[in-house]
Amino acid sequence: MAPANQPDHPTGIDFGGSGIKAAAVDLETGDFASERVRVDTPQPATPDAVAEAMVELLAQLPDSGGPVGVTVPGVVRHGVVHSAANIDKAWIGTDADALFTRATGRDVHVVNDADAAGLAEVRYGAARGQRGLVIVTTLGTGIGSAMVHDGVLVPNSELGHLEIDGHNAESRAANSAREREELSWETWAKRLRRYYSTLEALFSPDLIVVGGGVSKHSDEFLPLIGIDTPLVPATLRNKAGIVGAALVAERELRD
Ligand code: BGC
Repeated sequence: MAPANQPDHPTGIDFGGSGIKAAAVDLETGDFASERVRVDTPQPATPDAVAEAMVELLAQLPDSGGPVGVTVPGVVRHGVVHSAANIDKAWIGTDADALFTRATGRDVHVVNDADAAGLAEVRYGAARGQRGLVIVTTLGTGIGSAMVHDGVLVPNSELGHLEIDGHNAESRAANSAREREELSWETWAKRLRRYYSTLEALFSPDLIVVGGGVSKHSDEFLPLIGIDTPLVPATLRNKAGIVGAALVAERELRD
């Protein structure tokens, strides 16, 4: 592991529903270059409360001075959050880049959470070396998606909100729907089959990666989905958001 005090290691921050987690990341390897630190997500998780929590979090990583990337579970265009399906509505219209940069005194860039996970899986994880179109999905409270073609991200694809059979797809097929409705793996897999076969028909991807916390149980449901496109579990697990956010921080610095 590289020493944590190398100033050029970017820091990734993963802003989730229950915790906000951060680590410095060695982009050569995709490994953490510091310990991983965490604070509870403030309730309600308004932009100002989250900015304060981030200051507290970064104070726990005093040696990491590089740029900072932050995941947000919503549409992010040029630093501004444009949707808030599963987060406090106050995020809509917030210039999160500017807010977090002001609050922390660091160079901060925000990115959609699934886009961050997608970039990380393509560079270091389950889709490493894959040419063509990769779709990375995260099954959690909602369904996040990242579309990456030959390594290039098309941001904010929001494929969790496709309308399928008259429903917003994530309301039926996210992991939260499985938990809420106490679905068996088999029943949930049928819904996932409907969802993933729609992605297959619309986009003809070369590979689909299934991420989110539930992917650690992928043996229970992935083999039941049965579509033609190769469907593989994410490999970076709960590191993907932090690593992808750090990748974005570094890229923004270069551009
Ligand atoms: C949001 C996406 C997010 C996904 C996963 C969806 O409800 O619209 O922006 O990536 O949830 O958190």
